[in-house]
Amino acid sequence: MVTRCTASTLVVNPGFARQGVAEQLLYAGARLAISKSLKRILLGGRLPRYHRYAGKMSVEEYIAASSPKTGKPLDPELYVYLKAGLKVVKVLPNYIPDPESLDYGILLEWRNPFYPFTRIFRPMSLILSRIAHFETWCKTEFFFLSAFHI
Ligand SMILES: CC(C)(COP(=O)(O)OP(=O)(O)OC[C@H]1O[C@@H](n2cnc3c(N)ncnc32)[C@H](O)[C@@H]1OP(=O)(O)O)[C@@H](O)C(=O)NCCC(=O)NCCS
Repeated sequence: MVTRCTASTLVVNPGFARQGVAEQLLYAGARLAISKSLKRILLGGRLPRYHRYAGKMSVEEYIAASSPKTGKPLDPELYVYLKAGLKVVKVLPNYIPDPESLDYGILLEWRNPFYPFTRIFRPMSLILSRIAHFETWCKTEFFFLSAFHI
């Protein structure tokens, strides 16, 4: 039985950065998870600004820290995922060769708040995933997309 969707990476073409593309992809992933009655979606992410802070704090402290000026997470990529409602499950040392992240990655998760309800009442999953303004009420638990169904 398929209960989760694993996305290895999320990448937006730099020419389209900061236009809400990642956010929309994440919402599309949540709709997919709901419509397919998946329990959760897993995604790998980077920490591209960690190299600037590594001398001052551990990677766990970096993930938990926020900017005193903006109140946002120190890492812009982490901000994208947390804003969309994903949660950090664990730190992944030696994730990929990545000097900016010092090879650290993060495993992120979005849990389908309607599971297993939608598995029991299958038509509900289609209705829920098509509701207008879905993002506003699903945001707190949110997330996404993929290449592989496991
Ligand atoms: C991280 C990434 C997916 C963001 O994509 P995006 O389409 O630019 O993100 P969005 O436009 O949806 O941004 C969502 C929010 O994050 C913010 N944000 C995105 N990139 C940011 C950055 N570099 N710095 C600060 N904030 C940023 C946006 O301003 C927006 O916040 P707001 O609504 O409060 O203004 C993209 O930069 C990317 O592909 N990075 C490379 C990831 C990678 O290397 N993956 C492979 C290994 S896992």
